[in-house]
Amino acid sequence: MGEKILIIGANGQIGTELASALRGIYGSDAVIASDISSPNNAGGENNGPYEIVNVLDKDNLHHVFDKHRPTQVYLLAAILSAIGEQKPKIAWDLNMTGLLHVLDFSVEFKVAKVFWPSSIAVFGPHSPQQQTPQYCVMDPNTVYGFSKLAGERWCEYYFTKYGLDVRSIRYPGLIGWRTNPGGGTTDYAVHIFHEALKTGKYESFLSVNTALPMMYMEDAIRATITLMNTPADTLNIRSSYNLAGISFTPAQLADEIKKYIPGFEISYSNNDPRQAIADSWPKSIDDSYAQKDWGWKLEYDLSKMVEDMLVNMKKII
Ligand code: SER
Repeated sequence: MGEKILIIGANGQIGTELASALRGIYGSDAVIASDISSPNNAGGENNGPYEIVNVLDKDNLHHVFDKHRPTQVYLLAAILSAIGEQKPKIAWDLNMTGLLHVLDFSVEFKVAKVFWPSSIAVFGPHSPQQQTPQYCVMDPNTVYGFSKLAGERWCEYYFTKYGLDVRSIRYPGLIGWRTNPGGGTTDYAVHIFHEALKTGKYESFLSVNTALPMMYMEDAIRATITLMNTPADTLNIRSSYNLAGISFTPAQLADEIKKYIPGFEISYSNNDPRQAIADSWPKSIDDSYAQKDWGWKLEYDLSKMVEDMLVNMKKII
């Protein structure tokens, strides 16, 4: 039987790119994109089956599972770290109840594989900040972070208890040119490119030396698809895999952009609430389990990513 892939949250930063990549691999009709509102990709890049569904609307979500009988489900609907702090209860409800609905329906409809993203936000101020290991103290202090940590425990629980093949990655901050990020702490690293090209300057909401793990979207999508195609018995982690990416500060990113836009100027605001969130997160990540279990290897370093971002963004801006 061919694959039937349901993507929930297909209008978001990751979902848009993943829908396009999976349609490229499996064919348009094999991928059902869904989100709470109409498709955002007027350009037609993601053309194919589409459902409007709210992951919290149990009846409607059940209907979508029943109608399409997916073999794979990607749940990408979530509220990220910065918006989550403005709407803590709503973030908890969406991130947690949404996941439980999807896990339950995936068991009921015998979905073969489920993907659910976690984040570097699962770590907290007492986690080691350099080369943060897979297993360590985790005391996230954002609603987003502890919803992801609880979600990881649920994923592992459904794997152990019900045999559901759930797979997950703790994404670093993701940077891509096709889509905008949706309210996270790492969003500056995308906004900076837009402003560099449009106005030649940017005020960073994170301070000059705030290092965070980041990753180019090409690598993130490739990692996701690689993990999903790895034989189940070689996966030793059913909570979520650390993924390292590239660690850099706003100053280092700005310096790299200046190589292409010499007059680019960066300044720094100094009382943004996202700074405290960034300060509680790792500066770099140890992803040796991903390397060992599914052969993960990063392709885009900082200079390769900046070059590719600018080349592509110039075409669309
Ligand atoms: N990029 C996300 C955020 O900043 C982290 O997963 O919230």
